[in-house]
Amino acid sequence: MKRPTSNIQRSTSNEAAKCAAILATLAASLMILGIVRAAAPAFVNGDPVRVTKSEMLDFQGKNFAGAAKGQEFTLLKHDAARKVVFVSFLKDDNTMIAVTLPDEAVEPAAPRASLDLVRGAEEFRDQRYDEAKRLITRAAQDKQYAALGGALYARMNGAIVAAAQARANPASKQAAATTLQTLRDTAEQLAKAGLPSLALPLDEGADHLGAQVAGLTVSASKVDRADLTKRAAISQRAYLLARQAFALKKLVTASKHIKEGLDAEPAHAELKTMQPLVQKDLDEADSLCKTAKKMQRQPNGAVHALSAIDDGLKLCTDHTDLRELRKTLAAAFEERTSPEVTPDFRPLAKVSTPTQVLEEGRKLYTNRCTECHDLEMLDGRTLTGWAGMVSSMGRRAGLSEAQKSRIMDYIAAAKTVVEAGGAR
Ligand code: HEC
Repeated sequence: MKRPTSNIQRSTSNEAAKCAAILATLAASLMILGIVRAAAPAFVNGDPVRVTKSEMLDFQGKNFAGAAKGQEFTLLKHDAARKVVFVSFLKDDNTMIAVTLPDEAVEPAAPRASLDLVRGAEEFRDQRYDEAKRLITRAAQDKQYAALGGALYARMNGAIVAAAQARANPASKQAAATTLQTLRDTAEQLAKAGLPSLALPLDEGADHLGAQVAGLTVSASKVDRADLTKRAAISQRAYLLARQAFALKKLVTASKHIKEGLDAEPAHAELKTMQPLVQKDLDEADSLCKTAKKMQRQPNGAVHALSAIDDGLKLCTDHTDLRELRKTLAAAFEERTSPEVTPDFRPLAKVSTPTQVLEEGRKLYTNRCTECHDLEMLDGRTLTGWAGMVSSMGRRAGLSEAQKSRIMDYIAAAKTVVEAGGAR
């Protein structure tokens, strides 16, 4: 059918094309000048987003936890007016909450095919067939999932089409029953392959689809629903907790959840990918721990032991032995992370900053900057590096400009003292 505006469109199409060309050129040159940024890729609810700079997660308007650069979350909603995104966060007590991040601190992340398959199967279960097809089609674009995604799509879509035909024409009921039978078989295969999160919603979806056709007898399920329900719940929870722990370098915790998840869902692709990455850093932390213990026993080995412990804890923040060692060497650590303002301090630091100011800075530094993590060795960063950290972290810690500058006064002086070998 001809739309009434088509004539107008045709007559102005030349003008419009010219106009578009000019605008495009203008946009390109502005972009080169850095005046206009390229349009940010759109946020899609349910898709993963990645944190682009370390940030705070807020819950009901209050700081709730730190989010590390690179950490991924599932997007619940983008509130463009308030410039925040809502993402889901699983608490240790197993409650899922919606937390917010500034939208300029996140970007859309590449979807994971294996997770898209599960989401697609869940949409199928909930009878949102278009969304199910979209997700499974997207998963099948990943080479590794082309075969599984393609097969799932064909069987799911076959059943959806057959059910619609059977609703219109009772003579097609048998054909519909056959496609549902195929879904049952697929669910059974997936369960046997160690994928309860995929098998369960598919099997449940067959029930819901069958119920749409009056008088259709759906063959019995071939899977142990209760067992799959339990496994899927464990693995999905374990995956979220492992992902959160891994992002914050709590590798011991991550490793525990990965094991839990793989016990419940042995073929969980994301957990299987994460496992060797976590293990590699854990092994490295173990090895640094061994080095530290050896160094500690040697005369004057403390400095090397400290470095090894510090490096190890940077890799793995919840390493029990490293944390114990750090406690044992707490005094030695203090000398390199936050030396006291002793009488020797100012001459060594070669600063004229009043002692009182330095002490104030130290107090702020040791109290406020340890709320979320341990202090770092002062000689591990340049002064510019520290200034950048205090500026970005100070915002997260809710510090005023004056407080940040006190902290920097102390850090600048203390760094010189540490590099001179300490004020004792
Ligand atoms: C509200 C929690 C919180 C507070 C308070 C906090 N930090 Fe952090 N900090 C984090 C988190 C989370 C990370 C993990 C890494 C990241 O997000 O980039 C981190 C990382 C760091 C790092 C390592 C960064 C890297 O790239 O290796 C330094 C250094 C640091 N913080 C310094 C500070 C200083 C200085 C203060 C005080 C002004 C401070 N932090 C206060 C949460 C906090």
